[in-house]
Amino acid sequence: MNDFFRGRRLRSTPAMRALVRETSLRPQDLIMPYFVAESDDKKFRKPIGSMPGQFQLSLNELDKQVAKAVDNGLAACLLFGIPAAKDPVGSGAYAENGIVQQAIRMLKKRHGDKLLVIADTCLCEYTSHGHCGLLGQGNRAGQVLNDPSLELIARAALAQAQAGADIVAPSDMMDGRVAAIREALDANEFENLPIMSYAVKYASCFYGPFREAAESAPQSGDRKSYQMDPANAREALREAGADVLEQADILIVKPAGPYLDIIRQTRETFDVPIAAYQVSGEYSMIKAAGQNGWLNEDAAVLESLIGIKRAGSDMIISYFAEDLLARKLL
Ligand code: PBG
Repeated sequence: MNDFFRGRRLRSTPAMRALVRETSLRPQDLIMPYFVAESDDKKFRKPIGSMPGQFQLSLNELDKQVAKAVDNGLAACLLFGIPAAKDPVGSGAYAENGIVQQAIRMLKKRHGDKLLVIADTCLCEYTSHGHCGLLGQGNRAGQVLNDPSLELIARAALAQAQAGADIVAPSDMMDGRVAAIREALDANEFENLPIMSYAVKYASCFYGPFREAAESAPQSGDRKSYQMDPANAREALREAGADVLEQADILIVKPAGPYLDIIRQTRETFDVPIAAYQVSGEYSMIKAAGQNGWLNEDAAVLESLIGIKRAGSDMIISYFAEDLLARKLL
């Protein structure tokens, strides 16, 4: 008789492994990001070089693409806008007819309750300087101002709510923005509209490809005065705790793969739903390795996502979502 652990007993066949599998990925766990561009060309569909398979889309193209995805089982999407013009105060973010507001109206009209439309709330795609808040003048030149930005961010969230967004997702990392948004929403009869806060967002190089996709790279400096230092974990819990107090309904940890410990700690510390964002750079790395034949792409995608779920996230924002559903890989 052997007295060692026979872990292999429960790994003998696919059915046995399925029976004891602890974590699963379901279609409804996935949120697909889209980039919608304000364009006169109805057929506008511009490949994003650093993110093979992803595009900037006109409203019309977005409409077609999302319709297919919903047919394939997509339950939620996250919208980013690329406005025709930018200015220092990011007007496009809160204009009634801003590009994301148009996209929300279009998608909600077509899909109703079949598709959750989540709006990324931020100024960086709309500001000429590319920062997520207002830039200071005079003796505050070069600084990204916190409190004056809050009003604009809250206006953007309200415009998205008025257009019909199901959830608003502030990603700017200004202090106090969840409270500011909650107040603006509540004052306008949107007290039941959830806020999905990018509570724990690191100043990450893995957003590089996204900045090409959204044309939102800061024109000067970087985002380190508002996004978090990748070396910090305890601070993540302070950020998350602050947002929970301000009534965030869902917390996002971002990026996902290099921050699995943060997902786990956030999961164990708070009882709100946790989302993880597998960001553009995580997507691009797997794509590039797959295209070079260095990795089995499908297997790498599924393993990266199951790892993010296992770490404790309830849902995952991933650029792979649409393709996984289309090819029935879940
Ligand atoms: C906007 C925003 C960014 C991402 C989501 N919202 C970029 C940034 O903060 O620079 C990154 C998403 C990705 O890399 O996929 N603030």
